[in-house]
Amino acid sequence: MKKSINSLLMLALLAGLITSCNNSKSNKNGDRGALASSAAEKVYVAPGEHDEFYAFFSGGYSGNLTVYGLPSGRMFKEIPVFSQFPTNGYGYSEETIPMLNTSHGFVPWDDLHHPDISQTNGKLDGRWIFVNGNNTPRIARVDLETFETEEIIEVPNSAGNHSSSFITENTEYVVAGTRFSVPVPQEDIPINEYKGKFKGALSFISVEEETGRMDIKFQLMMPGFDYDLSHPGRGKSHGWFFFTTYNTEEANSLLEVNASQNDKDFIAAVNWKKIEEYVNNGGGTKMPANYAHNVYDHGTHNATTTMKKEVLTVDPTKVPGAVFFLPTPKSPHGCDVDPTGSYIIGNGKLSADLTIHSFDKMIDAIDNKKFDGEAYGIPILSFEDILAGTVKQAGLGPLHTEFDGKGNAYTTFFISSELVKWNIETREVIDRQPNYYSVGHVMIPGGNSAEPFGKYAVSMNKITKDRYLPTGPELEHSAQLFDITGDKMELLLDFPTHGEPHYAAGIPAEILAPKSKKIYKLEENKHEYAALTSGDTRVERDGKEVHIYMSMIRSHFTPDNIEGIKVGDKVYFHITNHEQDFDVPHGFAMIGANNAELLIMPGQTKTLYWEPKQVGVWPFYCTDFCSALHQEMQGYIRVSPENSNIELSWSLGE
Ligand code: CUA
Repeated sequence: MKKSINSLLMLALLAGLITSCNNSKSNKNGDRGALASSAAEKVYVAPGEHDEFYAFFSGGYSGNLTVYGLPSGRMFKEIPVFSQFPTNGYGYSEETIPMLNTSHGFVPWDDLHHPDISQTNGKLDGRWIFVNGNNTPRIARVDLETFETEEIIEVPNSAGNHSSSFITENTEYVVAGTRFSVPVPQEDIPINEYKGKFKGALSFISVEEETGRMDIKFQLMMPGFDYDLSHPGRGKSHGWFFFTTYNTEEANSLLEVNASQNDKDFIAAVNWKKIEEYVNNGGGTKMPANYAHNVYDHGTHNATTTMKKEVLTVDPTKVPGAVFFLPTPKSPHGCDVDPTGSYIIGNGKLSADLTIHSFDKMIDAIDNKKFDGEAYGIPILSFEDILAGTVKQAGLGPLHTEFDGKGNAYTTFFISSELVKWNIETREVIDRQPNYYSVGHVMIPGGNSAEPFGKYAVSMNKITKDRYLPTGPELEHSAQLFDITGDKMELLLDFPTHGEPHYAAGIPAEILAPKSKKIYKLEENKHEYAALTSGDTRVERDGKEVHIYMSMIRSHFTPDNIEGIKVGDKVYFHITNHEQDFDVPHGFAMIGANNAELLIMPGQTKTLYWEPKQVGVWPFYCTDFCSALHQEMQGYIRVSPENSNIELSWSLGE
């Protein structure tokens, strides 16, 4: 029955019939028949109509971010962030190559995990979305007018940048926490000297209010645990940040056994306002560092890299009252704060119960100095003193929790493969729905804010198996969309996701769509190599370096015939798109280029590097079907031997 559900829904849709079928294997409810057809209606966005929400899915090992519409599940775009993207030339064009610079050199890939949309007063404001690169620690800021990556900052003293990239309620900071502890500074020491010697850096990166520009304000040098996930306090707990830890055993080998010894690990509660005050008053230690800060400018259409040489570190024991450990059972993964900021939920991966800490009780215990020992000088609070309660036997393998803003929480369970809805105050389970299969994250638009939009929940499942037509051994992952407006969740839709989504962020379309940029204005183009009119087009030689200032408009390049290029030259095509209409990009592809095509937006200039290696007459062409005469949008480069004395010349229509 399950396998035929999609085609049944389609039939019901096409024929306008009310079919009677279960929309889930495990549903024994007789009345689901009518719901199955209403599920189709609920996700149906008629041709030409728009979705209600944007959803930004992390691409995991794709390194990029994908944009979907909800409720349709239609994919709109892939935004390149940490990975080279031949589809539009990101990371291949001379202008965007600097975006992927790091202290390890050019790193053209990463593992992108947790998107978080900027907020003002705890509400989504839709200016930017922040994402983390897990592997070579980086935080990126994507602009939500252009849907382009504008900035990437590397995070020094960090490794496996996983408890990232979550923001505070006014986007004061985007936070990056290390998963792996490492020697700080890095040094050549035996691995088994881990315990006590390695450090875990929690980085607070300030975000400039007007421009979004990022800068590492301070790094908190924590004990050598693994910092898994984090979420900001909000409302009454604004000013605090919470990080789950595992491997408080500080094992450096066979962690599946050795890091599962302690009955409880910790959630680290960090009073960042207190630390901010400490560093603003001159506290902290500047240490030498080396990390890249890459910024893309929409005026010059160019990215630049600045290598930064210093970072401010803070020893948590030097700031009394700033950092505490909350004991939390069994290697907690998700660390989620409810919309009121009253509760901190720790999902112990190896525990059947969910642990809910009370912020008020935590403050009370701190005020009364009710500590239960310390770890590396950081006070440990007593579990019983801070516990608000537990959700008993909620499921197996809890991972992540989101909120609907109506007093309910939704927790994913990887092992029992289900999404469980429970009441935050009573901690009673209200509903559970199976996920196909093995759910990781769940996303409710605005679910990590003070004001969630509790209409849909999307579970992001790790295993696809039989949900779609088989595509060989490698399958895309599967998302499932639930209607969460009723008491019971209702499964509406399955759709594939690209890469491996670790979390997503959703926002009402009405916040983003009206301000979405349509073109870049030619008169605002400050690119050093722009040809703003066809009169500016030319070819210049400087030794072996050749700069071609080219323009493009439907349906030709200016110039389209170039002679006098020689084998061994270093040729730069600087191409400006003269179109000023929405949705008229042109592409550029050069035979034998060792990089990718360029896709150039109206008003934009981009540069492709090409080394001619063979004598001959070689074509280039537009890759984007831009007009009825798109196939005519082409040209030739004559390449002569290295010692030839043919003069540079260029022309169009002569
Ligand atoms: Cu320009 Cu096709």
